[in-house]
Amino acid sequence: MATPDITRIWPSGVSLDKHTGAMNDRGETFEKLAALYGTPLYVMDVRDVADRARYFVQTVRDAFSNVTTHVSFAGKAFLSKEIARIVTEQGMYVDTCSLGEMKIALAAGVLGRRLVLHGNNKSDEEIRLAIEHDFDKIVLDEPHEADRVAAIAHELGKRARVMLRVTVGVHAGGHEYISTAHEDQKFGIALLPPDHGEIEDVQSAQFFDQVAHGPAVAAMHEILEHSEDLEFVGIHSHIGSQIHDADAFIAAAERVMVLRRAFYATDGFVAPEIDLGGGYSVAYVEGDASMDIADTMQRIAQTMKDDSARAGLPLPVISFEPGRWIVAPAGYTLYHVGTVKTVHLDGGKRRVYVSIDGGMSDNIRPALYGAAYTATLANRSSSAETVLARVVGSHCESGDIVARDVQLPADIRRGDLLAVPVTGAYGRTMASNYNQFLRPAVAAVDDNGSHVMIRRETVDDLLQLDVSE
Ligand SMILES: Cc1ncc(COP(=O)(O)O)c(C=O)c1O
Repeated sequence: MATPDITRIWPSGVSLDKHTGAMNDRGETFEKLAALYGTPLYVMDVRDVADRARYFVQTVRDAFSNVTTHVSFAGKAFLSKEIARIVTEQGMYVDTCSLGEMKIALAAGVLGRRLVLHGNNKSDEEIRLAIEHDFDKIVLDEPHEADRVAAIAHELGKRARVMLRVTVGVHAGGHEYISTAHEDQKFGIALLPPDHGEIEDVQSAQFFDQVAHGPAVAAMHEILEHSEDLEFVGIHSHIGSQIHDADAFIAAAERVMVLRRAFYATDGFVAPEIDLGGGYSVAYVEGDASMDIADTMQRIAQTMKDDSARAGLPLPVISFEPGRWIVAPAGYTLYHVGTVKTVHLDGGKRRVYVSIDGGMSDNIRPALYGAAYTATLANRSSSAETVLARVVGSHCESGDIVARDVQLPADIRRGDLLAVPVTGAYGRTMASNYNQFLRPAVAAVDDNGSHVMIRRETVDDLLQLDVSE
């Protein structure tokens, strides 16, 4: 099995014709894809998605040899029926966090026992659907949720499998909005009591004692009180997204293992499963590197093995929930260039503003998180010098930027095709209809050519939603 190149920002099938300057994906030129499906266009190299999913699953299995492992694909990164089928064929489960995601995964034919439900504010409808379909896990996010899930399970005459999401206090992630394990945010239940002070040594007796008296242990006791209706599967931790630092995952694993031990000490119950969530980084621009999964998994495995051995407890089932790492580098977006405008900056500098036919409605990440992207002229070669450019969308916001600082040929002009790599995650799933733009199609590319995976929205779609007379 080939190891994905962790510095590459284009799908493995993408190449450049040196004579014409035309980019292509597995033999389909970007121009042909744009002509067939229109722009803006998300393109997903589904062969890469399958390869990356298989690689992740196998790497986790190798790192945790002799232990059961589960890897769920986080559907929030990008979900369609086709993607749900591809990742489950590679041995993954699917993590959902809304009715829409659940329905898409189920419509794809994914069995409930390969599905996970998340959410900090789940509706009764979502909980009911998950229990009816025997979801593998419902991840509880707050102490009272156990009562609600137990009541619905009781009514349905079923026993729901639940995990508890714990906030381990590790601050990691590419941006505040995608850091999820520090205390002042909405997800999970705190590991430590309020006013716990500085944590110096997570292996100390003092830390163990604080964990044993913390909100997470109390919530776990409550879950066990519902054992007629709830099967307590274990502990969940997701510390954030786009995390480059493997040490943050090790720190989270250590803390979760202390919690498992502390709960065993107070209750005699050994949590059967630990889920360490997702968050593995990818490269967005040349020079970035993405998370080396093999190395990180080896380190996490060692940490968990050492802890279990010290405590004399069996290793738990280990699970992960990568989203971005599986799909982001498998996708890119094609745009047509419209207006090209030069602005003069202080100090005699100039910048060329290149407007494209999409923008923040199909890629909100630059505006939301200041995320960096690059862009490449994809339809022709150019011998012109490069100029400092900014690729901007067509929306009524000056923050509508897709690539903030990028070098593009000075002769870039209306009608050219621009390609923006690494848009396979949190692009289509975060897309909006701002300015009543139509959400773009997603085309899939594989060794057999291309096809539409998700169709483009139409003006009729917009008008059909607007039902008042
Ligand atoms: C609970 C949970 N699991 C997994 C993920 C996937 O994260 P990523 O796409 O960074 O791997 C997220 C993303 O926010 C999440 O909230």
